[in-house]
Amino acid sequence: FLICRMSFENAYFRKDVLNMTGYTMPKGFLWGGAVAAHQLEGAWDEDGKGMSVADVMTVGSATKPREITDGVIPGKNYPNHEAIDFYHHYKGDIKLMAEMGFKAFRTSIAWTRIFPKGDEEEPNEAGLKFYDDLFDECHKYGIEPVITLSHFEIPYHLVKEYGGFTNRKLIDYFVRFARVCFKRYKNKVKYWMTFNEIDNQSAFNNDFLMATNSGILFKDGMTDHDKEAAMYQAGHYELVASALAVKIGHKINPNFQIGCMINYSPVRPLTPSSDDVLLADKWEQRRDWFSDVHVFGEYPNAVEAYIERNGYRPDITDEDRIVLKEGTVDYVGFSYYQTTTVSSEKIKPDDLTDLAKAVAKNPTLMRSDWGWEIDPEGLRIALNQLQDRYHKPLFIVENGLGAYDKVEADGSIHDDYRIDYLRNHISEMEKAVELDGVNLMGYLPWGCIDLVSAGTGQMDKRYGFIYVDKNDAGEGTLTRSRKDSFFWYKKVIESNGQDLD
Ligand code: BG6
Repeated sequence: FLICRMSFENAYFRKDVLNMTGYTMPKGFLWGGAVAAHQLEGAWDEDGKGMSVADVMTVGSATKPREITDGVIPGKNYPNHEAIDFYHHYKGDIKLMAEMGFKAFRTSIAWTRIFPKGDEEEPNEAGLKFYDDLFDECHKYGIEPVITLSHFEIPYHLVKEYGGFTNRKLIDYFVRFARVCFKRYKNKVKYWMTFNEIDNQSAFNNDFLMATNSGILFKDGMTDHDKEAAMYQAGHYELVASALAVKIGHKINPNFQIGCMINYSPVRPLTPSSDDVLLADKWEQRRDWFSDVHVFGEYPNAVEAYIERNGYRPDITDEDRIVLKEGTVDYVGFSYYQTTTVSSEKIKPDDLTDLAKAVAKNPTLMRSDWGWEIDPEGLRIALNQLQDRYHKPLFIVENGLGAYDKVEADGSIHDDYRIDYLRNHISEMEKAVELDGVNLMGYLPWGCIDLVSAGTGQMDKRYGFIYVDKNDAGEGTLTRSRKDSFFWYKKVIESNGQDLD
């Protein structure tokens, strides 16, 4: 732990390296933070909630992957079951966010609170009531809820019985869920997103990502070819479901702003060689088709050609294509954590299938204790690229540093490394808005309160301004406390981004 901590402190002290801007953000800019239901609510089986795919994932670590078990097995540690028990603490937690001056709070609606199994005709009233109360609590402080409909928490029943989004029926179930939420909260929520990080699935042979994103559990013996075929099918059905939801949402309330949510990471060639440059382009094409379809309502040529060339035959009807065109999104929400560097030494552009095989270490960047590269300028690049490609308002709905925190004897937490990380990223974001004219709706850093890591299931991989007393083993009092970054972020918001010191 000590060795990790030392390397990590050296890694983030970049305060003198980048120029601070001193710019302020446009009026109405949505400063706030982001979380997801399954990572903080807990109460996994209370008030009629059903089991989601997140409820069968055990705790892992920086080196040990989470296990996806066949149902809940007694004796295993499932960190999402209790998480930080936001379900019973939300009033105090929202109050703390209000104290920081939040203008917006991004969370998700746990699908299984509303439709416990996913295929019911009628929703669960107790689940709907919880979010009524939560959104009321936000509005009490002038905080705008920003809501993701599906954030890695597909009902487990839909996973087991239907094969997740490889099954067309899932479109109907998702749309039913979306319609119920839009109707119920039409006067409480204006900003929506359909599927969290839908493009993660471009890593089609990552079992964990496919389970969380699309509810697909791969069977033993499946080849990469089978897995990629399943991904194109599931991705297509999700995009159709999303487009239908956008159409329905706009009918229910024409003022709704409904966006997509992608995991965006600018891709760089390791060298200036043509092969590396082409590989970077190919890599992006294979990821960006999700957002291209969301925004343009049609498949890019490169992906149609790739599907054809590989003999995949996804079920895509003419009617689907019309729906995609009619249900394009209002804005592009995205997470930014790091850039990606690729090398054709590892794989040639025309052989690219498994995207992970192309990834190389960027020798110019530092890494977090979980190996995530730290690249603040990459955020400015991301904002410019997305603006140039999509001509839509952009919304940063995740960004942040997962780090170990140390609680001092007096209870204080000096998380200067987190402040430095955020300061450098916000500074680059401000340059993009001020100097590059990017139309940006807001900034919602990830895990504004400590929560369960999606990737590792850990509590000790912390992102928050608010510390929660709980560790990876699940021990702790759940007491909340303010880190140094809490007071720093409060100043940033108060000054509308001008005071980053
Ligand atoms: C994003 C997800 O991929 O990254 C979040 O939308 C997740 O759910 C976040 O928590 C950080 O990843 P991790 O693995 O550190 O929790």
